[in-house]
Formats: sequence, C-alpha cells, structure tokens
Amino acid sequence: MVSGKRILLIIGGGIAAYKALELIRALKKAGASVVPVLTRAAEEFVTPLSAAALAGDKVYRDLFDLTDEAEMGHIELSRAADLVVVAPATADLMAKMAHGHANDLASTLLMATDKRVLIAPAMNVRMWDHAATRRNLATLQGDGILSVGPDEGAMACGEFGPGRMAEPEAILAAIDTALGGGPLAGKHVLVTSGPTHEPIDPVRYIANRSSGAQGTALARALLDLGARVSFITGPASVPPPAGADVVRVETALQMLDAVENALPAHAAVFAAAVADWRVQGASDHKIKKGPDGPPALTFAENPDILASISALDAPRPPLVVGFAAETRNLVENATAKRARKGCDWIVANDVSPETGIMGGAENKVVLISDAGTEEWPRMTKAEVARRLADRIAAALADLPAPVML
Ligand code: CTP
Repeated sequence: MVSGKRILLIIGGGIAAYKALELIRALKKAGASVVPVLTRAAEEFVTPLSAAALAGDKVYRDLFDLTDEAEMGHIELSRAADLVVVAPATADLMAKMAHGHANDLASTLLMATDKRVLIAPAMNVRMWDHAATRRNLATLQGDGILSVGPDEGAMACGEFGPGRMAEPEAILAAIDTALGGGPLAGKHVLVTSGPTHEPIDPVRYIANRSSGAQGTALARALLDLGARVSFITGPASVPPPAGADVVRVETALQMLDAVENALPAHAAVFAAAVADWRVQGASDHKIKKGPDGPPALTFAENPDILASISALDAPRPPLVVGFAAETRNLVENATAKRARKGCDWIVANDVSPETGIMGGAENKVVLISDAGTEEWPRMTKAEVARRLADRIAAALADLPAPVML
C-alpha cells in the first residue's frame, strides 16, 4: 500500500525528530516518496540537509518562502500528498492542530489539506498526561485524525511512562493501514464493550464495575490493523475509539439487538460485562419510600448474547471470541464457559478485587482455544489488545468470509 504513495512528513521540534529521519529511510525503502516539512523548532534537532538527503527531495520550511510559492503553493503542497504524517507530533503541534492555528508552514498545511492526517505524538510524560493534551487529543480524534503511539518506556528526559514516539516500523505500519492496507483491511469485526445498566425505575439501575477499557483498547487495536469495527457499547467510563461505527446501548436486551443488526461480521469479540439479570417489571415511575419498607426486586434472566451468536447457523461470524471474568478456578471455569457458550476462543481473566484488573489499566489473561491454554504475562490492556488483534488477524487470514442467508 505504501509503494508509489506520496507522504507529506511534518517533523515537529522534539528529541524524537531523529527518529523521523529513520522513518524517511523506511518509507523510501518501502517505495514511497517523502516530502519533508520542518518546523522551526525541528531544525534545532535535525538539519534540513539530512532530511533532504534521505528523502531525495526538497525540504519545505517557511510559509513565506517565495521560491516555494512559485514552485508549489502551500495549498497544493498539502493536497498533492496521499497522506500527511506528523512525526513527532509535539504537544505544541497537537494544540495548534486542535485549535486550527495556521501561523507557520506546518500548521497551515495541516489546515489546508484534504487528505487524512496521521500523528505520532511524542512528549514528556507529564505533558502527555496534562489535561490540555488530553483535551486536544480527544478533539483531534473526534476530527478523524489518526494516531499511532506514544509508547511507554524510559524517556530522553529521564522520566518513565507514556510519551515516547512510536518506533518507525510501527509508524510505517500505521501509514500502511491509513492508506488502506493492514492485515484486517476489508474485514468487519464486531466488539461489545462496557457494562450494561438494567433499570429499576427511571432514575435507578443495576450495573457493574466494568470501565470498557479492555473492549475499547481492543477496538482501537483492530482499527489500527485496518478492520472496520462495529463497537457496541454500554455506558462505559472511557470514550469509544474514533473511527469505529459506535452503537451506544444501555441494557442487555438492547445490546443483543444491536449485535444482531451489525451482523454479518468476520469476527465478533464479546468484551462487554453484560448483566446476567434485569429487574422484572421495572417501574416506569420513581419508586417512593413508604411505610411498607424497601421494595422487593425480582429478576429475570437476560439473554446470553455470546451464546446466542455462537449458536447461530448463519450469519455466525467465523471467529467468535468471549471473555471470562472469574474470581476463582480461572482456567477450569473459563474452559467450561467456552464449551457452554460455544465460542471459539475465551480470554479468561481473574477479576478478584486484589488484582486491580476491573477498572484498572492492566490485565493478565489466559487464552483458551482448540489449540489449548496459553497464559500471557501481566501487561497493559493496550498490549493485551494489540496481541489479541494480531491473533485475530492471523486467524482470519485462514478462515472463510461470513455468510449471510
Ligand atoms: N456475555 C454475554 N451475554 C450475557 C452474559 C455474558 O454476551 N448475558 C458474554 C460476555 O461478554 C463475556 C462472556 O459472555 O464474553 C462471559 O461473561 P461472564 O460474565 O464471565 O460470564 P457469565 O455468563 O456471567 O457466567 P458466570 O455467571 O458463570 O460467570
């Protein structure tokens, strides 16, 4: 997908700018042409000459460079590309993008382009965690800007955490996906996520502690591999991933409906923490306190969405993946759950409070399939998601397309 494509590469002013030079080399090797644009701050970290030499092209630096305007105006420059990549995307560049500034060549090109934009953020961990950067990232994602990274690890400033720019190979893979490649291109994957809320009356409901973090991370990882993702989510506390077809539901019954409507799919992953029961005959007015004491709630069993989709003849997704949240006898219970529900894989995790997994940033899972039981080390939910998405991509490469009767 990258071969023959023209990438406008905006290099921001951060220590990670040196990795942008490696990215130019990787893109050239993959057969792309690269037009580098350096911000003034970027020139403090890499020289225009080295970027030009690696790209084998002119480097653009100044909005008011009349020679550039005579050769190619900034509007044309931003549109002649197949994709605009910002690497490193500094906190400052992200802020400019989010607020629509156009006061130098880089920000003007980003405002003028009619092409997709992919950013590779890189900054100090505190800057990445800052409320302003959080807001700007959410704005950019809402605007359809694609992003890759940042990675977590030791940083040039001596601190540790997320903020390190993604490695050039990862950026190259994200560019490939943005251009329509990626191992899941053309594949439709359905993901359920978050808790469900089962009403007691119009103001009260029964819920669980799921944040939706693992389902959201998984949807993001699948999107990163080029999949079309239908993301069916209960009222989660983390925002849904940009780029997915999001269907918001509240109850288990609504979730089942939305899942059936989203089929057919090549794969379906059921990461939602669906309430097993709903309140029978929920009141349509607020239940008042009274002399008779507290109301006695009676429950009805909710449909098992995973089991009912696994049992479909058609359009059963060729790969159905369930999660198993257990607090005891993890592998034994999850193995029995896989058989009972009829899904292909079960991702089992121990959600006992002392693990901090429910609502936390990390997860420790065991993948159970026909091939046996595979224990994964404790890692972030984003890493679990990436690993699972890779496995799904590998499995779908060998599976038939879904059938719709
Ligand atoms: N699930 C579902 N619909 C339900 C309940 C669960 O689709 N009504 C799915 C979940 O999304 C998950 C898997 O089934 O993929 C297992 O969920 P879990 O809560 O671990 O299992 P339960 O069905 O609640 O079984 P148990 O009560 O034995 O733990």
